[in-house]
Amino acid sequence: MNNTLYIIGVGPGDPGLLTFKAHSLLESCTVIATPKGSKNGNSTALSIIQHTVELEDKTILELYFPMKKVRMGTKPDREVEKGWQEAAQAVLANLDAGKDVAFPTLGDPAIYSTGYYLYQMIIGLRPDVRVVFVPGISALSSCSATIATPICLGDDRLAVIPATFSSDKLRETLLDFDTIVLMKVHKVINELKELLAELDLLDCAVLVEKTGMTDEKIYTDLSKLTEPIHYFSTIIVRKHFL
Ligand SMILES: C[S@@+](CC[C@H](N)C(=O)[O-])C[C@H]1O[C@@H](n2cnc3c(N)ncnc32)[C@H](O)[C@@H]1O
Repeated sequence: MNNTLYIIGVGPGDPGLLTFKAHSLLESCTVIATPKGSKNGNSTALSIIQHTVELEDKTILELYFPMKKVRMGTKPDREVEKGWQEAAQAVLANLDAGKDVAFPTLGDPAIYSTGYYLYQMIIGLRPDVRVVFVPGISALSSCSATIATPICLGDDRLAVIPATFSSDKLRETLLDFDTIVLMKVHKVINELKELLAELDLLDCAVLVEKTGMTDEKIYTDLSKLTEPIHYFSTIIVRKHFL
């Protein structure tokens, strides 16, 4: 191993859902690059690994990724692009110094992860850099396990969608698919409850907060949900069980 960037899925929060491969790579890399959504905030990915990975002798490289909407097919906002560029430069400096860098990311890197923004930026600057992706357990798999409900079976069609974008797109998706996984629901929960009620889908929707964690919660009747919910919350809408 040398001069390699590992983009590592660390699961949705339960340390037991960190894979052996993720754990062993995190232990062997000397630099851990951690994504943060705000300059003074904490990295959720780092908080997931801190009790299971020995971090004492490692360099922790904090990377700031502004939490703003990114629409595929359009150029990102200037602050967002600047954040990605600076993050890429900081990682490249460590790779050029002969170090291996691990970039832990919540859940699986394939699903709404900053890991791919970093990857695109790095490869755009330096196509020769070696980048390895390590899959992790996604929140959607863990939420499905928590509520013992399949995500898709037989000829089911599945959609995974962030709830923070256009309500027209959400409505269309909720109508068209058999199972719909709604992520990033915490800030728009009231609007979502209204939309699900309007489409007569409240009975098919279950919200899982902090899946696999000690304070995990399951809400089967969203109409009764009144308290604020955590960022780690996902709704599974499944129109038929079997
Ligand atoms: C930026 S996305 C990252 C998804 C992640 N890459 C994955 O594979 O699960 C963040 C969203 O994932 C979901 N999420 C992450 N951890 C969760 C958890 N422990 N319980 C429930 N949902 C979670 C929430 O919907 C949250 O808003």
